[in-house]
Amino acid sequence: MRPTKIKYILGIETSCDETAAAVVQDGTKLISNVVASSQAMHAKYGGIIPDQAAREQLKSIIPVIHEALVSSNQYPATNIDAIAVTYGPGLIGSLLVGVETAKALSLAWNKPIIPVNHLIGHIYGNWLTVNREPVLPAIVLLVSGGHTELVLMTGHGKFKLLGSTRDDAAGECLDKCARILGLGYPGGPAIEKAALVGNGIKLPRPMIHDKNFDFSFSGLKTALAAVNREPGSTSNQLAYELQEAVTDVLVAKTLAAAKKYSPKSILLCGGVAANKRLREKMVSTVNRELGSTVNFFVPPISLCTDNAAYIASAAFFNYHPISWEKITADPGLTI
Ligand code: KG4
Ligand code: ZN
Repeated sequence: MRPTKIKYILGIETSCDETAAAVVQDGTKLISNVVASSQAMHAKYGGIIPDQAAREQLKSIIPVIHEALVSSNQYPATNIDAIAVTYGPGLIGSLLVGVETAKALSLAWNKPIIPVNHLIGHIYGNWLTVNREPVLPAIVLLVSGGHTELVLMTGHGKFKLLGSTRDDAAGECLDKCARILGLGYPGGPAIEKAALVGNGIKLPRPMIHDKNFDFSFSGLKTALAAVNREPGSTSNQLAYELQEAVTDVLVAKTLAAAKKYSPKSILLCGGVAANKRLREKMVSTVNRELGSTVNFFVPPISLCTDNAAYIASAAFFNYHPISWEKITADPGLTI
């Protein structure tokens, strides 16, 4: 439901290692977007340490919200109509920082809270991008560090899960493979940067021909580790082939879903959607195979990885306000 009296929504997102706040007008206009990340700290250990992530978020949540309000000319927050906050899925300590802060602001400002599912939030990055809104129904490919899902979206808040990963998410596979190759953390951007040239070595394209919309990426990691033990390939060459294998599967499955469900739009989202090779392959495949029957959408790179702008946008289009007494964090939600 699109609310009539709601103009400015403050979004808050703390589901993983980012602390983010944003102000969005009418669900589609980005007024401010502030993201603080503790990624550099986690890079030392090759992955996120949940307890440390939550401690960093406790330090940065109020300054980040303050900056989002000040930079949107909304401080003091008299004109903010509602507070949108990610309530799950995510790391429980991290989610609690955002949810408890939202409760406090709701109580102090007497404004409603709109709880937002992080995964649904990612999808709404596609409403913040261009001056045209995606026409529904849409096939959504959501690819992040924790999730890989193909979803049929028939309306706002109307989602049907078509398939998901049976083991590792695509981003998780890139992160683990980057670690095997010694390329650092987070792995997705490191793989993208290293993926300069192939050498003819082939990795598998798991489940690419299966007649379902599920994925499996853990075998790819095992295959890469095996090739990496043999002499003859550089980490650049393996990163290249890995990126080709992951993107081939993602694009093929999305295309198959589009052919089955005849959507009006295809929406790509999630941190892995920042990958330029995936974006290119998706555009060229949609143009070649589906022509002008389908419009392809992807958020700008800065709105693919975690942020609070898409949380505010999702809240606008799925406006179900609740009072501060009712909201609780839930680490295990799926679409
Ligand atoms: O959506 P996101 O920021 O956090 C989760 O909700 O998980 O996604 C993070 C994931 C990580 O696995 C990261 O390696 C991947 O997105 N990622 C990328 C790129 N940027 C981030 N993967 C491939 N290419 C990128 N440029
Ligand atoms: Zn995310």
